[in-house]
Amino acid sequence: MTVPVAAATPEARTDPAGSRAFAGAVPERLQGIASMAWPELRQSVATCRTCCLCEERRQAVLGVGDVNADWLFIGEGPGAEEDARGEPFVGVAGKLLDAMLAAIDLQRGHDVYIANAVKCRPPANRTPEPAEIAACLPYLRRQIALIQPRLIVLLGRAAAHAVLGDVGSLASLRGRSLEYTGPELDGRTIPVVVTYHPAYLLRTLPDKAKAWEDLCRARALMRSAKAAAGGPPSPQADERAGR
Ligand code: URA
Ligand code: SF4
Repeated sequence: MTVPVAAATPEARTDPAGSRAFAGAVPERLQGIASMAWPELRQSVATCRTCCLCEERRQAVLGVGDVNADWLFIGEGPGAEEDARGEPFVGVAGKLLDAMLAAIDLQRGHDVYIANAVKCRPPANRTPEPAEIAACLPYLRRQIALIQPRLIVLLGRAAAHAVLGDVGSLASLRGRSLEYTGPELDGRTIPVVVTYHPAYLLRTLPDKAKAWEDLCRARALMRSAKAAAGGPPSPQADERAGR
């Protein structure tokens, strides 16, 4: 199936932030992305030129992991190593993320999917601009709709900005009961936990303890979500366990 994807004109891509966001919000593009299956989504992201982050990327990085995962972790955007390898969180911050996952008995690829707010590496690893996050958001929303995770963990401000909107400091979001919803979820809400980005934690070791609290909260929320749903955690988990 050919899915219409708005190709932003070079003018739109170098216009001020507002225009770029507008270029990404073409209704045909949004509708196209909202109905994509994984192969189309992968292809669309790989060739996307909607925002100026396409200019310097080596490759777009869609995400990695179990597409039926209960857990969805969302970071900021690819760094140099991710841009080179095409997988999120494979550099130093990724090693810490793997350790954070292990601390709550999780493992990359096993009931976990890892994505980013923007799919293309911001030059010199700068923070993505709001317009870039907005331009890439339809892809993230589609990933959420396809995965239908039981819980979303947002790693840092950019991810919080993408999923929750522009909602204040990270400190003000930690420890709060938050939810994500969208038209694509048919009224369903997904609990959200906000915590520090692993790259920040590498620079600010004292906050590791706070991240640990957040992860424990996330694990507790997951347990109650599974208990509330009753029965086994998920058909996928059953399959993996050979039930
Ligand atoms: N930081 C992120 O936010 N995402 C990555 O994929 C790597 C580092
Ligand atoms: Fe497209 Fe997202 Fe890459 Fe921008 S960051 S070019 S919106 S895939």
